[in-house]
Amino acid sequence: MGNLITKTTELAMSVTLAYIGKGDTVVDATCGSGQDTLALSRAVGETGKVYGFDIQKKALLLTEARLHSHGCSNVHLLMKSFAEMGDHVPEESAAAVVFNLGYLPGGDHSITTTADETLRGLECALKAIRRGGIVTVVLYDGHEAGAAEKQRVIEWAEGLDSKRYHAAFVSLINQANNPPEILWVTKK
Ligand SMILES: C[S@@+](CC[C@H](N)C(=O)[O-])C[C@H]1O[C@@H](n2cnc3c(N)ncnc32)[C@H](O)[C@@H]1O
Repeated sequence: MGNLITKTTELAMSVTLAYIGKGDTVVDATCGSGQDTLALSRAVGETGKVYGFDIQKKALLLTEARLHSHGCSNVHLLMKSFAEMGDHVPEESAAAVVFNLGYLPGGDHSITTTADETLRGLECALKAIRRGGIVTVVLYDGHEAGAAEKQRVIEWAEGLDSKRYHAAFVSLINQANNPPEILWVTKK
């Protein structure tokens, strides 16, 4: 194994993948350009299923193109908010739900995740994961809305019942340019 603690997004996904096996159901709550969606699709394999959410058509088109170029056919893409996850993903069915908060890089920066909607999505994610499952959240506090969102998300996680969940927060504290941070929540 190489150095895991370099790029936050890779660390977030490496830990997430440890909770996922072939044939599992997983969720990418924020597809963006589809990098995480592709990693999840590969992890669950042909017998598994990925639900991919994004509110932007542009993001879903980028994700669809990425998946198509890698021959992935196990992803169900939805142009809906992650706060509607409960209408599509059965309770206690998912091995993992992954959020990468903020805006689409190279896209419209005004279309971003917001604290209220993110908290609704996180509650849905807790219902969607099975026992032993994980919710992974990559957060960016380098922009104003992101800083407020991060604070609310951390407060939410700190308040989770310790008998039912483990929550961990990781920050790469000596790196330049406000690298993203990671919250993991696992269900006992
Ligand atoms: C930082 S990007 C995700 C990057 C992505 N994980 C990747 O690998 O490319 C954040 C995405 O969240 C989407 N988004 C914002 N609010 C959302 C919501 N309520 N539900 C689902 N997606 C949302 C944005 O449209 C944007 O594409």
